[in-house]
Amino acid sequence: MSTAAISISGVSKTYRTGFWGKKFVALDALSLSVEKGEILGYLGPNGAGKTTTFKVLLDLIRPDSGTLSIFGDPADQKARERVGYLPENPYFYMYLTAEETLHFHGRLRGMKGEARKKRIPELLHLVGLEHAKSRSLKKFSRGMLQRIGIAQALVNNPDILILDEPMSGLDPNGRKQMRDIILGCRDQGKTVIFSSHILSDVEIMCDRAAIIRQGKLQEIVQVSEMLDNKVAHWEITCSSLPENSPYEDCIVHKTKNQILLKTNGEVEAKKMIQKIEESGGRVLSFGPQRVNLEEFYNQSGKEEK
Ligand SMILES: Nc1ncnc2c1ncn2[C@@H]1O[C@H](COP(=O)(O)OP(=O)(O)OP(=O)(O)O)[C@@H](O)[C@H]1O
Ligand SMILES: [Mg+2]
Repeated sequence: MSTAAISISGVSKTYRTGFWGKKFVALDALSLSVEKGEILGYLGPNGAGKTTTFKVLLDLIRPDSGTLSIFGDPADQKARERVGYLPENPYFYMYLTAEETLHFHGRLRGMKGEARKKRIPELLHLVGLEHAKSRSLKKFSRGMLQRIGIAQALVNNPDILILDEPMSGLDPNGRKQMRDIILGCRDQGKTVIFSSHILSDVEIMCDRAAIIRQGKLQEIVQVSEMLDNKVAHWEITCSSLPENSPYEDCIVHKTKNQILLKTNGEVEAKKMIQKIEESGGRVLSFGPQRVNLEEFYNQSGKEEK
């Protein structure tokens, strides 16, 4: 039996654009699944189709073909009630206070008064907005609105979270808080898919990352395995280079006292070290640098071209 919380199979979506209704393929036979209890990072350049994927999943727009299911049932509207959604550009009634906004969303989700009274203070605490609970949203900063956005997505304690760029607009502290909230959701057994352009966040939090380009799934990687296994290059930090050194092209960064060099293989790195030391230079550090998600992402983009 599949353990997928979300399953997308062969989904295509075409938009009609402009006066003549020209067709534009936003999703092209996309297949992707998110396992129960995992955090999946959904990456791709602007216009790749991330938000469109979320909208078809939530039944906000209809795909042209393909099937989508949440907890195994494509038609079950009840399953969708177990999904919390943070849109890319959430719309709020700006004259409502933070507290009123969460009551409003709780009511939309069918929560009774008692349940809301218990849940909303917890959520305000979770997103660090207790101090602003009676302030109307028109007085909120962008980052505060993003926090109220995640709080509304969590209001009825959903099992699945679909978050469209949850980190956008947040300061470093807010980003850390958002990461902790998302990781906390996984600890509670929730399933999370989120889109982001901040690769380091995806690297820290995600079990897997999927890369979509031009509406097609391009790569799906197990983040921890990728980080464990692949050596991207070797780095050497030294005090000086031999005179007329052949390594000028390898310099990544140079300060008054230190030079950082980058090379591809271990053998080449060791040769460099020998040459540097023979010429009286000092090697301060050297070692393999693992592939990070950014390199992987950029590499996958090049392969496409
Ligand atoms: N309602 C629409 N009508 C016509 N084209 C649309 C519509 N919505 C999205 N598109 C197009 O579909 C493509 C995918 O858009 P989508 O918003 O899904 O991208 P995205 O990956 O979320 O990008 P971003 O990272 O910028 O948020 C884009 O080229 C976009 O212009
Ligand atoms: Mg988007």
